[in-house]
Amino acid sequence: MGAADSAELARFSVAVPEDLLHEYDALIARRGEARNRSEAIRDLMRAALVQDSLRTPDEQVIGSLTMIYDHHTGDLTRRLDEIQHDFTAEIVSTMHVHLDHHNCLEILALKGLGSRVYELADRLLGLRGVKHGELTCAATGASLDI
Ligand code: NI
Repeated sequence: MGAADSAELARFSVAVPEDLLHEYDALIARRGEARNRSEAIRDLMRAALVQDSLRTPDEQVIGSLTMIYDHHTGDLTRRLDEIQHDFTAEIVSTMHVHLDHHNCLEILALKGLGSRVYELADRLLGLRGVKHGELTCAATGASLDI
């Protein structure tokens, strides 16, 4: 039994935009069952831990990183750019779509050592202002001649 299964409950407070909270509450309600916010958040945390445990930092991987962000957020676009310039060996290609006045969609095709690809994804998705982000990744086996 790991730490995540500890029976002792810790309480913490989280600040989220009100409309996001309302939408999330509605989602929980739609799922039926006797679910509540705390259980839903616990499920999200467990899912993130499972996702993390599937990483293969020592293997070659290929994948795509999808991000949606508001390019008006502070110096976000400069920071996204700066990070990407530190990973030129891993970023095979990028596509940028201006979705509307505020939002941008960016898709990165990635290839390289898992640890580098995950570091890049974590750094980009960790930036304030990135509203949605998802890394889809798979180990390729020994060879990357694809
Ligand atoms: Ni844009």
